[in-house]
Amino acid sequence: MRTDYCGLIDTRFLDQTVTVCGWVHRRRDHGGVIFIDLRDREGVVQVVCDPDTKEAFATADRLRSEYVVEITGRVRRRPDGTENPGLISGEIEVLAKSITLLNSALTPPFPLDEEEPTESVRLEHRVFDLRRPQMQRNLRLRYRVAMAVRRFLDEAGFVDIETPFLYKSTPEGAREFLVPSRLHDGHFYALPQSPQLFKQMLMISGFDRYYQIVKCFRDEDLRADRQPEFTQIDIELSFLEEQAIRDIMEEMIRVVFKTCLDVELPDPFPVMRFDDAIRLYGSDKPDLRVPLQFTELTDLMRQVEFKVFRSAADLQDGRVVALRVPGGGTLTRKQIDDYTSFVSIYGAKGLAYIKVNERARGVEGLQSPILKFLPHEVAHQVLERCGAQDGDLIFFGADRAGVVNDSIGALRQKVGHDLGLQEQGWRPLWIVDFPMFEFDEDSKQWAARHHPFTSPKDGHEEHIESDPGQAYAKAYDMVLNGWEIGGGSVRIYRPEVQEKVFRALRITPEDQRAKFGFLLDSLQWGAPPHGGIAFGLDRIVTLMCGADSIRDVIAFPKTQRGQDMLTGAPSRVAEQQLRELHVRLRNTEPGGKARKQE
Ligand code: AMO
Ligand code: AMP
Repeated sequence: MRTDYCGLIDTRFLDQTVTVCGWVHRRRDHGGVIFIDLRDREGVVQVVCDPDTKEAFATADRLRSEYVVEITGRVRRRPDGTENPGLISGEIEVLAKSITLLNSALTPPFPLDEEEPTESVRLEHRVFDLRRPQMQRNLRLRYRVAMAVRRFLDEAGFVDIETPFLYKSTPEGAREFLVPSRLHDGHFYALPQSPQLFKQMLMISGFDRYYQIVKCFRDEDLRADRQPEFTQIDIELSFLEEQAIRDIMEEMIRVVFKTCLDVELPDPFPVMRFDDAIRLYGSDKPDLRVPLQFTELTDLMRQVEFKVFRSAADLQDGRVVALRVPGGGTLTRKQIDDYTSFVSIYGAKGLAYIKVNERARGVEGLQSPILKFLPHEVAHQVLERCGAQDGDLIFFGADRAGVVNDSIGALRQKVGHDLGLQEQGWRPLWIVDFPMFEFDEDSKQWAARHHPFTSPKDGHEEHIESDPGQAYAKAYDMVLNGWEIGGGSVRIYRPEVQEKVFRALRITPEDQRAKFGFLLDSLQWGAPPHGGIAFGLDRIVTLMCGADSIRDVIAFPKTQRGQDMLTGAPSRVAEQQLRELHVRLRNTEPGGKARKQE
């Protein structure tokens, strides 16, 4: 049928006869002559139907938006002044000889090339939404990224090995999706949150270099950068240390950006310790495009009377920081009030500030509601530490460290963006030296920060049980423009270290056997030193497309509430299906009666 794609026909085709197939993008009736913009995946070509070609003209007359047609015609130059330089096919048009109507279509739910409809409308009509050129570009870029990754890993000797989706429930972090077993009454599979343990076992089996572009499932609360099923580029290697693993992985990301976007990322990527990232940015995924940094004031504020600062500084996990905003002196009262509401979203109880009008005049040159509470010497030291200059504004955060980091970290990003201080381009970095554990206030227990299979840094093994907060890990995240795009670690490969970690996490020997017995056993069969990483493919592609949400790079994503608007999943199932799976629903109505099943 087709000889060429619509969007690729250009002046090289002049005077040739072509056959194109596609959808009617637009149809215009210009008093006697009908113009059709015909669209396929490569773009649009203009077709002209002259009344002299009677049959084709009659068909053209019946065409409506999104009808599917096959058109044969001769390529000719567009008349002077009617060219469209925005299109590959912008200098030519196809004079139709014959038109075959292949299929009609309902009236589109929204116009394809006007303003974007709301996301719920788009997700409900996803099949149609995916016809939008932007979505076509996004998904094709996603494919190119995946191919570049495969090529790179293949050349580097990695082997793609599939791992099971029907897996064992081993709560490691996020909540799992469960699948009831028909053959084993009362037993469940879990969908894997990642192939973590399988890839480690493949190293023990001797495959040396594994990768998989693989779906992972996590029943978490969803956000713009999270989906319940998402895709990891999952990687594991043997006999290499942390630095060597990171070198290969950042080379892969550099090659992907060069191949797919013609962007040169820095070589090497900057590396920042976790503690430094928190100290300077309040975040373990700082967006380095925003140059603002925190200034630590906790020690200084232990000397002041001002209660807001003093009480935070005296807390065991308290923190007081300043954020110097160059040129922020121009911010109005209203803007500062808006920022105060903004930080309150993150739990901040206020947002103190000082405007630096004229530093040379000492406190006389400052303007602030808190100056009366601060001794001059302290105010002077604050300016000194911040490196304040005339015209600056200094914000303050004082609270538990978690609140300060979240609120002033978010403020850093927002102010930087609002005041145009944000640089353009790509700022990747590694965050390294994560603490192995974090203390969970709710359960009053230590929890693994990455996952419990992460190796301690050399010399930190002894802290694992005696002082878990002092144990740091050979763990690393790759961060790009404020998004965590990948995370991994060197793994524990000696069973006695693994057991130590389980003990620190208060996982009893019985639980260890029940949950991870297969791993502990495997470790005894001669496990090589190994480590790896997993990248979030959806996130990488979202950044590359400049999209706001990972839903824009996934063909059929779920909504914020985990629903598929197109197919209607999740849905109720027939009683018979449940019976086979040995499942009875326990939903009860307010009166306590079991809800009737549909
Ligand atoms: P981690 O849990 O850090 O590590 O996940 C790796 C990367 O996957 C992406 N990601 C997500 N993307 C979209 N939606 C989600 N819900 C989601 N959750 C995570 C992120 C993240 O950096 N097994 C380890 C890796 C390893 O140690 O090798 C793991 O899964 O970009
Ligand atoms: P107050 O004494 O509550 O009126 O606060 C005095 C100033 O400190 C105001 O500018 C508040 O916005 C600010 N402030 C109050 N609580 C905090 C806090 N936790 N962190 C930073 N600034 C605060």
